[in-house]
Amino acid sequence: MPVARTRSAALVGVAGHTVEVEADVGRGLVGTHFIGLLDTAISEARDRVRSALLNSRFDWPDARVTVSLFPASLPKKGSSFDLAIAMAVLGAAGLVPPERIAEPFFLGELGLDGRVRPVRGALPAALAAVAAGARTMVVPAANAAEAALVPELAVLPVASLGELVEILREGEARARAPYFDPMELAVPAEEKTLDLADVAGQALGRCALEICAAGGHNLWFLGPPGTGKTMLAERLTTIIPPLDREQALEVTAIHSIAGTLPADRPLLARPPFVAPHHTASAAAVIGGGTGQIRPGAVSLAHASTSLCILTS
Ligand SMILES: Nc1ncnc2c1ncn2[C@@H]1O[C@H](COP(=O)(O)OP(=O)(O)O)[C@@H](O)[C@H]1O
Ligand SMILES: [Mg+2]
Repeated sequence: MPVARTRSAALVGVAGHTVEVEADVGRGLVGTHFIGLLDTAISEARDRVRSALLNSRFDWPDARVTVSLFPASLPKKGSSFDLAIAMAVLGAAGLVPPERIAEPFFLGELGLDGRVRPVRGALPAALAAVAAGARTMVVPAANAAEAALVPELAVLPVASLGELVEILREGEARARAPYFDPMELAVPAEEKTLDLADVAGQALGRCALEICAAGGHNLWFLGPPGTGKTMLAERLTTIIPPLDREQALEVTAIHSIAGTLPADRPLLARPPFVAPHHTASAAAVIGGGTGQIRPGAVSLAHASTSLCILTS
């Protein structure tokens, strides 16, 4: 079968969009060509995927290989398409059954030795996969917990290209349904270390904090250095209610894209506390980036009342 098709997801802002990856292994001058509005990181995928395949003891097809990422109009950044590209090429070359790679979403960057590296934005990608009707998503092992936050999706974590090809060839149904309740996992004990009880005195300050938390108001701290402004502000997140499920997914998606999601804590269930330095640039506070956005402090504090611009 000279043409194989599979799917992956591209990030536009904080939302994932389906990208179809097609590979054609056919006659013509031997070479590899990528088409479909790609940035340099994806053009480099050619060398990464080729090395990963060879080092996983597969042959790179001795033919004209054309890889197309569709829709061509969607800008595609980063290296998260590597795994999908490798699968499409292997499918087109007849090294994995093409029908087994058509349905799942594949997400992951490939190392030159064939290992599957974690990527940013696994959660928005998983949401896009479900929206596109996929039932399975193959992700780097380190992103598995994050992708498994989407209950409709069976997540297959893989550590290397060789392992994935073996699974696809055997047709082994190793995809995991969500293997934990993410809401339960979200609040480990050590996260409770901050406590309003740590503050000595400051009755007025604590009262202001409580009024602010109850009414969702803004709060302005003014005072000389060392009087406990930061200390009080940090503790505001401990007395406002935890995020509901929808908010938690939104906040987690933003932190997933920013790359600030702790690996051991896939779901952020507490309102985040963000304290940008008073010399922070406008881009650091409101976000920026060309093509692929970098969420700023305001976005990182999404659903939280406690974004504090501190003067000291
Ligand atoms: N009311 C307080 N109770 C307990 N510790 C305090 C109090 N006020 C200040 N501190 C101590 O002083 C340190 C500095 O406070 P900080 O919140 O950084 O001050 P600011 O932000 O106003 O400059 C805190 O880490 C804490 O150890
Ligand atoms: Mg301070």
